[in-house]
Amino acid sequence: MFKAIVAFSSLFPFVAQATAPLYGQCGGQTYTGDTNCAAGATCVYSNSYYSQCLPAGTGGSSSLTTHSGSTSVPANPTSGSSSAPSSTSTPDAGNPYNGYTVYLSPYYAAEVQQASASITNVGSKSKALSVGNIPTFTWFDVIAKTSDLGTYLADADSLSKSSGKKYLVQIVVYDLPDRDCAALASNGEFSIANGGEANYRMYIDRLVAQIKKYPNVRVVAVIEPDSLANLVTNLNVAKCSGAQTAYKNGVTYAMQQLNAVGVYMYLDAGHAGWLGWPANIDPAAQLFATLYKTAGSPQFVRGLATNVANYNALSAVSPDTSITQGNPNYDEMHYINALAPKLQSQGFPAHFIVDLGRSGQQGIRQQWGDWCNVKGAGFGIRPTTNTGSSLIDSIVWVKPGGECDGTSNNSAVRFDAHCGQSDALQPAPEAGSWFQTYFEQLVNNANPSL
Ligand code: BGC
Repeated sequence: MFKAIVAFSSLFPFVAQATAPLYGQCGGQTYTGDTNCAAGATCVYSNSYYSQCLPAGTGGSSSLTTHSGSTSVPANPTSGSSSAPSSTSTPDAGNPYNGYTVYLSPYYAAEVQQASASITNVGSKSKALSVGNIPTFTWFDVIAKTSDLGTYLADADSLSKSSGKKYLVQIVVYDLPDRDCAALASNGEFSIANGGEANYRMYIDRLVAQIKKYPNVRVVAVIEPDSLANLVTNLNVAKCSGAQTAYKNGVTYAMQQLNAVGVYMYLDAGHAGWLGWPANIDPAAQLFATLYKTAGSPQFVRGLATNVANYNALSAVSPDTSITQGNPNYDEMHYINALAPKLQSQGFPAHFIVDLGRSGQQGIRQQWGDWCNVKGAGFGIRPTTNTGSSLIDSIVWVKPGGECDGTSNNSAVRFDAHCGQSDALQPAPEAGSWFQTYFEQLVNNANPSL
């Protein structure tokens, strides 16, 4: 964090001497730097660890202008209000997607471009190419990728300037130590036993350092797929119980630091077939609400993301009874409608985004818990804010379709048995790597078609 501030300040040597710069830190436990802000900025409390210089004249100490400069929300993050978000009580704490153009991930666009080049059928090729124009999140799954974020934000910033439109960049924060504790396929680079918590803070700080350089670009982040859901249902797995404290600390740090630079966040909340079961939904709501409040009810934590990298329908025509087995929350809409009031009553007025990127085909799994490269999947409903629910901010595509869920090579270190099941497409490369056959399947089975 300290390094990040220094780097930022050095861009503005004329304001960095006696006062903290715009968007710089100006207070917080253990902070020893300048507590006065440069002219035109006001020091606004964000959480106990962080106060930040924000543009002045947007309502004094009782309101806050986001880093995008387009909205203001009440700046009382410790209140933990349990009242429903509404246009009257929190006028600007609205859907972050409204009024914004979503930036296309160049990383994914390049993957799609390359993949399409090897498709010979003319019809399929043009459908495949069109996927590159559908906004998809960019995953920051290793610290080495964090510098790319600055490139994307700079690009979005210049697109914004040339077009006059406001831009939004979608990212997945995904680098917790002892990651993917109940599976093997996505084990990450940091281990708790080897400084993982400090490394994770450095990873978050690097994201923050990039984001604060581009205050006109809005960032929406999904926070740590699977992590908190694993703490709800998989504490019987030694790696998960061992990771419990590090996951909670890491997610809290991410919430607080990203909040300080105005990143709109959705914590990952598994899916209907995981936390939507009657036995799981109450403990899940309790964990999410507790973490949110402990973090100081950060104002940019907008809610939860569901179905990330999964295959469920938003609203199934009928339950896929062979796998949903009586769960009343047999699709994402039922799950969200059941979860939201439980969060609300515990002080977390959450809104949702839902990943439907690979949800085009239903009835393709042998068990609801099957998650790896499921055969027969197709691209799903396109991203839209026209969601049919006031609880759902946007349908999104989070998992970049065509990137693998996990290797089917049973001698690989990250081989997970789910990726060797008969409903998993094989042979499959390592998680995150490009899986051409899977991409082509998603294109051919897309519903609605491409
Ligand atoms: C992988 C990541 C990858 C992400 C998106 C995860 O399963 O572990 O490396 O970035 O999927 O494809």
